[in-house]
Amino acid sequence: MSLEMKNVSHIYQKGSAKESYALRDICLNVNEGEFLGIAGHTGSGKSTLIQHFNGLLKPSSGEVIVDGVNINGKEAKNRLKALRMQVGVVFQYPEYQLFEETVEQDIAFGPRNLGLSDSEVQQRVVEAMELLKLSKKLRKKSPFDLSGGQKRRIAIAGVLAMKPKYLILDEPAAGLDPKGREEFLELTAELHRQGLTVVMVSHSMDDIARYAQRLVVLEKGSIKLEGTPQQVFAQPDILSEIGLGVPMLTSLLLELHEKGWDVRTDLFHPEDVKREILRELARRERQGGGV
Ligand SMILES: Nc1ncnc2c1ncn2[C@@H]1O[C@H](COP(=O)(O)OP(=O)(O)OP(=O)(O)O)[C@@H](O)[C@H]1O
Ligand SMILES: [Mg+2]
Repeated sequence: MSLEMKNVSHIYQKGSAKESYALRDICLNVNEGEFLGIAGHTGSGKSTLIQHFNGLLKPSSGEVIVDGVNINGKEAKNRLKALRMQVGVVFQYPEYQLFEETVEQDIAFGPRNLGLSDSEVQQRVVEAMELLKLSKKLRKKSPFDLSGGQKRRIAIAGVLAMKPKYLILDEPAAGLDPKGREEFLELTAELHRQGLTVVMVSHSMDDIARYAQRLVVLEKGSIKLEGTPQQVFAQPDILSEIGLGVPMLTSLLLELHEKGWDVRTDLFHPEDVKREILRELARRERQGGGV
């Protein structure tokens, strides 16, 4: 089972003088269980792309296939709700979309619309709050009285309460302080470990490199690069051509390598990089060459 795009193009304001291609002939597969990162310069089409997966946007041409069914085709007609439910999309700054009086009501909004019983809705609210590490005490509070990070958790809890199989996040860590960022990204990784398929859009190459198993880099609506972080970041020239850099840790390792240090340049986790540098330092000391 997977999310799939077959030759998808999207034209905004088709037929008008302002007609513009936001996506061009995209072919992409998101396999069940994977963590896919989508990167690209501002305006490259990332948000347009992900909004096709839950049918919010329709392709101007091509097909979007969820678990084998073209979601814009005739065969999806009776199953559209069920198919869309599989795909949870968290928009950039989702906290601005909270609108109910209490936290509990906000999280319950989606599952209630699915026509579930009250007890099932309650159960889902409790589970989603636990997943997002939201204290039970917050249930009756107004979402507007909470911190930015808490609001974002509530918005995501609302999406998870629909029990999607695929979770798509548009810049989930944007605007959070470093600690909030780290907590959030760890949470995303944890949800992935628990079995969710995750697609994360991010400007931060560091975040993407650390968490994604596979990357897609968009440029002007087309896929420019695709592969594992190792494969993509081994092409810093192409990335810089389209205004993107490599992760900070990669550029540190590349610089050391250029200076003659015998270090790997394909590590992305801070702990791995630290270990690699310490190993090389120890080797240099043993050789008596100094650092
Ligand atoms: N509603 C719209 N009407 C017309 N053009 C749009 C609309 N939304 C986006 N676009 C245009 O489509 C292109 C892709 O936009 P999109 O928002 O998908 O990019 P993005 O990669 O998500 O950018 P960012 O990193 O800034 O979020 C841009 O040129 C943008 O101006
Ligand atoms: Mg965007």
